Amino acid sequence: MAEAPRHFLDLDRVSAATLRHILGLARDIKAGGGGDKPLAGKTLAMIFEKPSTRTRVSFQVGMQQLGGAVVVIGDGESHLGISETVADTARVLSRFVDVIVIRTDAPAKIDELADHATVPVINGLTDASHPCQLMADVMTFEEHRGPIMGRTVAWCGDGNNMATSWIHAAVRLEFRLRLACPGQFSPSPELMDWAAAEGGDVALSEDVGGTVADADCVVTDAWVSMGYPDAEARRRLLAPYRVDEGVMAKARPDALFMHCLPAHRGEEVTDAVIDGPNSVVWDEAENRLHAQKGILTWCLG
Ligand code: CP
Ligand code: NVA
Repeated sequence: MAEAPRHFLDLDRVSAATLRHILGLARDIKAGGGGDKPLAGKTLAMIFEKPSTRTRVSFQVGMQQLGGAVVVIGDGESHLGISETVADTARVLSRFVDVIVIRTDAPAKIDELADHATVPVINGLTDASHPCQLMADVMTFEEHRGPIMGRTVAWCGDGNNMATSWIHAAVRLEFRLRLACPGQFSPSPELMDWAAAEGGDVALSEDVGGTVADADCVVTDAWVSMGYPDAEARRRLLAPYRVDEGVMAKARPDALFMHCLPAHRGEEVTDAVIDGPNSVVWDEAENRLHAQKGILTWCLG
């Protein structure tokens, strides 16, 4: 029987040892190792049902740098889930390509794709999580500050897909995570219970000052993620969670600032913070390329 494909679906579904292995691959590849064109002859299909700049370009460039080829399928450009079931598309794509990245609203669609694909499937973001981004974020933290294990990361704002992947990462990679989110936009009790049951050090409150106190890294993200309704109500409720210089001043003096981007300057973060000396957002964006080359290399064995 053929070996099961190595999917990269969510950080809570990958072991800590594998995450560490992938981060090691990413670091080696960034440093110039990893061999010449190790994925020559392989093809990546990318399906985007939502917009993307970083994920799309970094996967495309990364696959090409590894020697492989790429096919990009934009929203509404294939039969996926419209005139063909997700399962049937998975079966067909598996006959053409060696690995699939998908960005879509629904996690269930990725699961169905992965269940029926005979090649690895990578989660390029859903409304529920963004695991590839977290690999770049951890890589960036460790480049600037050394091992993340035992350090403290503070999240301010919407308890969204990025917050979920930060929770998964904190549990798997054993760092402290403090989240400040308004009650109605908090990570689910089920997710917080999972983190506690796994022995994670993850805490949630509505107090921004207390959350960022002593943090080694402050993180935020959009208040209105792609496709979210009620933008104005969200902006009103999330305004007290903006990361400005006053918030950064309550964290450690050398606290990094991170944001997965795209940033909404003046909403979740001020110009002074994102353009300030502690911001590492451009390194974080660049590391999408290296981290995903690590992910592709691991998925393709
Ligand atoms: N951070 C991130 O995933 O960016 P894109 O939406 O541009 O891919
Ligand atoms: N939370 C954001 C992340 C974008 C990369 C969104 O889903 O729109």
